[in-house]
Amino acid sequence: MIPEDRPITHSLSLPDTQSLPEGDKSVLHVWGKASLQGHVKISGAKNSALAIMAGALLCPQDCRLRNVPLLMDVQRMGQILSSLGVKLERDGDDLNIDASHIGQSKAPYELVSQLRASFFIIGPVLARLGVARVPLPGGCAIGARPVDLHVRGLQLMGAEVQIDRGMVNAYVTGGGRKRLKGARIYLDYPSVGATETLMMAATLADGETIIENAAQEPEVTDLANFCRAMGAKIRGAGTNTIVISGVERLHSVDYSIIPDRVEAGTFLVAGAITHSEISLSPVIPDHLTAVIAKLRDVGVKVVTEGPNSVRLIPGSLKATDIETLPYPGFPTDMQAQFMALLTLSEGDSIITETVFENRLRHVAELSRMGADIRVKGNNAIIRGVSMLSGAPVVATDLRASAALVIAALAAEGKTTIQGLHHLDRGYDRLELKLRQLGANIHRVKDDSEAPTEVEAGA
Ligand code: UD1
Repeated sequence: MIPEDRPITHSLSLPDTQSLPEGDKSVLHVWGKASLQGHVKISGAKNSALAIMAGALLCPQDCRLRNVPLLMDVQRMGQILSSLGVKLERDGDDLNIDASHIGQSKAPYELVSQLRASFFIIGPVLARLGVARVPLPGGCAIGARPVDLHVRGLQLMGAEVQIDRGMVNAYVTGGGRKRLKGARIYLDYPSVGATETLMMAATLADGETIIENAAQEPEVTDLANFCRAMGAKIRGAGTNTIVISGVERLHSVDYSIIPDRVEAGTFLVAGAITHSEISLSPVIPDHLTAVIAKLRDVGVKVVTEGPNSVRLIPGSLKATDIETLPYPGFPTDMQAQFMALLTLSEGDSIITETVFENRLRHVAELSRMGADIRVKGNNAIIRGVSMLSGAPVVATDLRASAALVIAALAAEGKTTIQGLHHLDRGYDRLELKLRQLGANIHRVKDDSEAPTEVEAGA
């Protein structure tokens, strides 16, 4: 039997969201042929922040997170933690999380369905309480995104898992303190989320867990470092084998999140397509190796200036081929932005998307702007054109929205971008940062020129 949840007995404090824009109702106007110049401050990594917020559920004491980006996804994750009875308080880029009392083991569908990463709480909640009930996150614009690897790993650690009417019910049976057991887990695919879920679950398990074919993304390492700072025993994060020796209890922590490599990559591509010299910091150049290598193939240079700063030196753009892969391969989260860049690069390029099965929906929108792209299965064949033209377009997912902004910066005339709720999920004040570089980009509340989703064929 799954124990009943206790009611939440204390008041909830949601993170401050006042300065987040209203993405659903507004549109972006971008005037192209921009020339950018100057420096961009890169925010904390979205994917680290989300995983680490989930990881804070492991800790029965206060956690202070620093460098937390101001994003809709972070706000939603905060709401999910609040719904479990956790107290959160946001102060600028700092976020305090007090999970000393978790009053609920069940996460609400309305919130989980909006944010896939919130499913990752299943690992820490199960480890802390011996029971977790989290709705299946459901489909998503970029593919089916199942959670079978998460579930199978938890079962190997001794959890009973039943999926009933869209709810994943996981619990640890037996008397006394209900602890998961260490296990040897081979992941059929190096899933970022499954690695994170299972690593978090294993920190409080009885005995040693070995995750083989683990994801090696920097955000996995960041989560491991956060857990270690709380007293967890984890070795090998950042390699394909992670070993976790379970401990009885974790303790309070003050932890700073790494810079966002996808935000940094997005600005580098914006600089490249507009032939602009820009610098970025803080960044961890090692995390950008695949992106910098591809930029070099395209004809621009990225030079490091000290340990956490890079500068983009523009050049004339030429075609290249890209295949998305798990880290350290080329990131799927940079695929759409590079497609925008390759539309204006001389020659034919091929982009092969191997991580998600439906992540080429931005092709139709880039084509509206004059791009020459054909799709065959998971390949996009891009023939460089001499110019793009501003047009009304609709963002189809988070990184697609960034690709449209990038294309719009280089296009002739004005582009109107709708669907900004995608952009606001994962970019911290993107248009403000671009304006500071000299871009002519403005958000307006409503726009009759913008097409509806149906008109745009999205
Ligand atoms: C994370 C990132 C996302 C990034 C992706 C790949 C977060 C919050 N999001 O997503 O930005 O694009 O990694 O780098 O960190 N899969 C299964 N079964 C599972 C889990 C995954 O088949 O149980 C498949 C997925 O359908 C997909 C592939 O594995 O085709 C990669 O997914 P995964 O690495 O899990 O991505 P996320 O963790 O969802």
